[in-house]
Amino acid sequence: MSTAEKVRVAVVGAGSFGQAHLRAYAQLERADVAWVCDADVDAARRTAAEFDVPHVATDLAAVLADHEVQVVDLVTPVALHAPQATAALQAGRSVICEKPMALDLSEALLLADVAASSPGALLVKYHQRFDPVHERMRDLLAEGTHGTGLVAHIEILGDHLAALRSREHWRGDPRMTGGGCLFESGSHLIDLAHFWFGPAARVTATTHQLAADNPDKGEDTATLVVQFASGAVMTLVGFWGAPGWDWRKEVFTSRQVRLSVETGDSNALRLRERDGTDRVLAVEDDWFARSVRRSLAHALDCAAGDARPQVTVDDALASMRTLDAAYRSAREGRTVELA
Ligand SMILES: NC(=O)c1ccc[n+]([C@@H]2O[C@H](COP(=O)([O-])OP(=O)(O)OC[C@H]3O[C@@H](n4cnc5c(N)ncnc54)[C@H](O)[C@@H]3O)[C@@H](O)[C@H]2O)c1
Repeated sequence: MSTAEKVRVAVVGAGSFGQAHLRAYAQLERADVAWVCDADVDAARRTAAEFDVPHVATDLAAVLADHEVQVVDLVTPVALHAPQATAALQAGRSVICEKPMALDLSEALLLADVAASSPGALLVKYHQRFDPVHERMRDLLAEGTHGTGLVAHIEILGDHLAALRSREHWRGDPRMTGGGCLFESGSHLIDLAHFWFGPAARVTATTHQLAADNPDKGEDTATLVVQFASGAVMTLVGFWGAPGWDWRKEVFTSRQVRLSVETGDSNALRLRERDGTDRVLAVEDDWFARSVRRSLAHALDCAAGDARPQVTVDDALASMRTLDAAYRSAREGRTVELA
């Protein structure tokens, strides 16, 4: 049993992913979740009751008035991330912020400045970096065990069409988020690609709305070609009109090896070589919930001063820069160079 001191947490946003965070906290001994805050009081009350959380608020100010709260965990629509994170950081708290950290790069840079001059930590939650299978891929590529990563192909095929077609749901509404499929789902994979390949050098992208038929909303389809400073090239395809969620993540290396992550309920790292070798190098069951839990456990350790962030603000900014470059490329119909 861990003897680490508990960390008092407020979860802001009691929607579907706020509840995923609460499920994770329920299994973390270090987490003392004291507040559920949601603009919808019924959602806040219902969720607090379900997870046995003592206090309910509809406004972040009420949470910040509790001077014992150490960590504010933002699981709200993206447009609220920067203002709420700024308020919490300026009130001296650490912030866990769901990805993407802000509506766009300029807002992200302002938030990073606030974080740099605040005592608390800004911990942007790119939880896929905390999955052991994704970590193993990173290690194999960094060590060159099976050669250098040359070409990657990544797909995120999912179903958010109902939210994109809805006039009520914030998802894909430019006032509430920075985009559709690429911004919300693609941002994870852009970040994962940074984790595996390092900084991006240039991006060529297209975005489209092919299925949603809602001109007030963002893209349901995106294509990217990213070249990294290492020379590796990645294609990424995102589509929100698929019948369910499906990922494809493959890397081809300088030794004619294919390393792929097969993602379903579990994550499996498979190696294929020219001589017919075909073996699974690592498996993580229930990988999504576990990576959420590991990333939140790590964030609490960081907030308590017991660990240094594995995902730094600079890492989060690098992902925002690539995302920003992709949207610029799609708008302007050209390749965008990253400094
Ligand atoms: N990391 C991941 O894999 C992942 C997956 C899904 C969602 N997310 C992120 O989580 C966040 C929330 O997504 P979701 O799917 O849970 O959305 P959701 O719509 O289900 O929940 C959002 C909640 O925020 C509440 N809210 C709105 N305004 C508020 C305010 N001013 N103060 C407090 N609460 C407010 C809403 O009432 C709603 O309950 C988004 O940033 C999204 O990008 C991340």
